[in-house]
Amino acid sequence: MAHVFNRRNWLQSTGLLTAGLATGLSRWQKAKAAFIPESVATEQRLFNEFVALTNTPPDTMPALKARLFANENPYGISTSAKEAINKATALGNRYAWMEFAQLKKMIADAEGVSPKNILITPGSSDVLMAAAVNFSQKGAILTSRPTYDDLLERATKQNGQILTVPATTGLGYDLAALKAKALSTPGLSMVYIVNPNNPTGTIVSPAELAQFCRDVAPKVPVFIDEAYIDFLEPADRPMLGKLVAEGLDVMLARTFSKIHGFAGLRLGYVMAQPKSITQIKPFTNGEFAVGITTLMGGIASYQDQAWQTYCRTENAKARDYTMKELKAIGYEPIPSYANFILFPIKMKTQAFENQMYGQGVGIQTREIDRQPYCRVSIGTMDEMKIFMDAFKKVVG
Ligand SMILES: Cc1ncc(COP(=O)(O)O)c(C=O)c1O
Repeated sequence: MAHVFNRRNWLQSTGLLTAGLATGLSRWQKAKAAFIPESVATEQRLFNEFVALTNTPPDTMPALKARLFANENPYGISTSAKEAINKATALGNRYAWMEFAQLKKMIADAEGVSPKNILITPGSSDVLMAAAVNFSQKGAILTSRPTYDDLLERATKQNGQILTVPATTGLGYDLAALKAKALSTPGLSMVYIVNPNNPTGTIVSPAELAQFCRDVAPKVPVFIDEAYIDFLEPADRPMLGKLVAEGLDVMLARTFSKIHGFAGLRLGYVMAQPKSITQIKPFTNGEFAVGITTLMGGIASYQDQAWQTYCRTENAKARDYTMKELKAIGYEPIPSYANFILFPIKMKTQAFENQMYGQGVGIQTREIDRQPYCRVSIGTMDEMKIFMDAFKKVVG
């Protein structure tokens, strides 16, 4: 049975959302005392703010030496984005107007679509949630698990139906099975694909995905969540904007949270047919939910190819290091094309997670077909060394 994952579930599963965390509390406090408070002060503050938002007493949170649980960018935002954001604060009294057009034009030019094909949102979650509400009312959503569950969970809450096909043996999307089911099942409202997939880090071949869209989209709209697409080298990306330009009913959700480091700033967009945007938009908070600071920072970051290349290259180096280290001690990580790695572990998920936190390392776990897995986000090289040290201590 696939594990349903979102951030809130994960906090709950780690016990971090429960106020009466008597044993955990002392464990975290002990862990906190043992670590280097100065170097983790910022992490602690950010974590505390996040926890405050979820109504958990901040004191229950561990101080982390390596924060590797949320697929964030460990390098921060680019200098150019910081400068643009600083400038934008002076415009904070005005509604953003032209900046939306400016960003859309840049994206449209890069992707070969029209600005009319783009809707800007505060992070891609807004698009995912809106798509879930819209499409769950119209029929079943077809996907494959394990995958990113936020959209699917929201659809389920809306009384929508989710249909799945089994993953491949390597836990990837089985496009052939998905296509057969999409074309033979009446009443589907949408197919949902995450590429690269989360939590597995797998990808599907660009040519096969394009062909899949050509075969399926005339019958059923295809929604592709491309949150991690920027971790692929530009030449390896599917560049499916061309299908949108051709008029196919394909929706591509993107985020600035990953390669651009905007997870806390909140910026994302979807590329789709104008009619799909018209359907989805009423279920979003509207483009004005994105502030001028984020927007101007995003415009600067989008143009900052050097920063994106730097983050992608450093991520690949730290990922390769971690893969190699894990294999050297007998683990079998799934080849990853994103900023995280999933691999089977030989301990129960909860015990493993708690002990890793006890070592000051935040990770996530999954149970897939009764097999426990660790999902570790790729941090800096130093953080991955901390992760490997902690991992070796925990697994003995
Ligand atoms: C596959 C996938 N899609 C979408 C999101 C949502 O990200 P955001 O709302 O920050 O853009 C995430 C976040 O981790 C993700 O993993």
